[in-house]
Amino acid sequence: MSIALEAPTAVAASGRHDSTPAAVVMEVVRAREASYSRLLMAYVSSGLLFMLLPGTFLGVWNLLQISGRESVASVSPAWLQAHGHAQVFGWIGSFIFGIGFYSIPRLRGATRPAFGAAWACWVMWTLGVTARWAANVYGWQWRLLLPLSGTLELAAFLIFFSAVSQHRPDLAGKNGPEHSGKSQLDPWIWVVISASTGLMLVLIANLAACIYLAWRGAGPALPHGPDQRYLVLVTWGFLVPFVWGFSTKWMPVFLGLKAVRPRLLRAAVVVNFMGIVLALLGWGAGATVLFVAGAALAIAALRMFEASRQEPKTRGIHWSFPFFVRMAYGWLLAAALLGVGAALWDTSGGIWGASRHALTVGFVAIMVMCVGQRILPAFAGMRPLWSPRLMFIGLILLTVGCALRVSCEVIAYQGYADWAWTVLPDSALLELAGVTAFAVNILGTFILQPSHEQKLPLVVGINQIIS
Ligand code: HEM
Repeated sequence: MSIALEAPTAVAASGRHDSTPAAVVMEVVRAREASYSRLLMAYVSSGLLFMLLPGTFLGVWNLLQISGRESVASVSPAWLQAHGHAQVFGWIGSFIFGIGFYSIPRLRGATRPAFGAAWACWVMWTLGVTARWAANVYGWQWRLLLPLSGTLELAAFLIFFSAVSQHRPDLAGKNGPEHSGKSQLDPWIWVVISASTGLMLVLIANLAACIYLAWRGAGPALPHGPDQRYLVLVTWGFLVPFVWGFSTKWMPVFLGLKAVRPRLLRAAVVVNFMGIVLALLGWGAGATVLFVAGAALAIAALRMFEASRQEPKTRGIHWSFPFFVRMAYGWLLAAALLGVGAALWDTSGGIWGASRHALTVGFVAIMVMCVGQRILPAFAGMRPLWSPRLMFIGLILLTVGCALRVSCEVIAYQGYADWAWTVLPDSALLELAGVTAFAVNILGTFILQPSHEQKLPLVVGINQIIS
């Protein structure tokens, strides 16, 4: 990127064929820009596929079975885990890698971005997640496929990690707004680093579990106890801090929020980490209280519910965007509180399940749908979002589906009222419709919307692309 900085932007605007050195440099920069966008679209498209079929469709199928038989124990744990794995790693993991590869090399102004490594990572990750799904759902060659999939996933992560760890982050004080002279990482970077560490630990635990199952297991599913602890690491150790990190980076701009409070954010990450340690040691009840405290601290740090200092940036997307982002943080708190309720009263797995889905659907999926439709069209070659109205429809369907699911899962599974069993299938179909609207909108953007990459100014950073 450094040579590009010397090329005059006036040539970029002319649009005429030109063979001056500046024009040649510009062509190189544009070709590289297109390669970044293609890479991002591959990660996002495979993520959407995992989300739709192996993820949500299987989740809906599981819930229909559970509701029909009025018992969660009647469904194969391998199928439940196949669904969770496809959502967390197939969907969210692919999105994180795609956005990471797209944005980090730019931030460090790489002269030779590692496209080969990024594509190798995509192939290994996609094969790894697919193999895991096949092993869990079909039981085909699972003693071979489980360790293979775990190895491929961890290897893909290490490729990603080595590519992005060469990134020299901005130091607050050097490039930070206050020029204070202090050498500190930007808060969003260390939160994302903590989330990446969480992801690495999850992938190591996953590989260890796969090897153990292949060697000693009677089937391809983890036993209930270890699975519950592993899920705490997945949700609070990986998904939650990632969303906090990206919220720290983008929400002050997108929502016009006041400046983040770094001390409170650090406290949120530390308290959340202590919660994970307690849960892994088997003190689940204490952990749930710490998760409530961590969520409250993060909300206060991000100033999510305080008056904004400027107008939100909703050009090209639906105006309800700030409402849904704030609501997602309401779901985060609800998920944490449900965890406390589960530790006190759960006799059926229903309150734990409701807490987990308040977190994965209400918080994570709503945030991904909000932020994804805000940034991905721009990253994919400066395209406009296909339909802001479809964005709203998807978000409202998912919100209503999630609210019905979370409330009725507690009532039905706990045996408080039988009618709740009849609501659960509808809640699942609403959620399926919501995430399908999101996928259609993103794929419609990639396929049907024209790219305006040619009009990009030559010297451009991520923040300019999405602001
Ligand atoms: C959108 C519609 C979804 C439906 C209908 C659905 C359905 C289900 C069902 C029926 C279960 C079994 C446990 C229980 O009864 O609570 C389950 C578990 C799970 N789901 Fe979902 N889900 C959906 C979305 C998601 C999303 C978006 C994520 C993650 C980003 C996710 C992650 C998980 C995980 C991690 C588990 C636990 C699997 C295990 O037991 O190891 N789900 N889901």
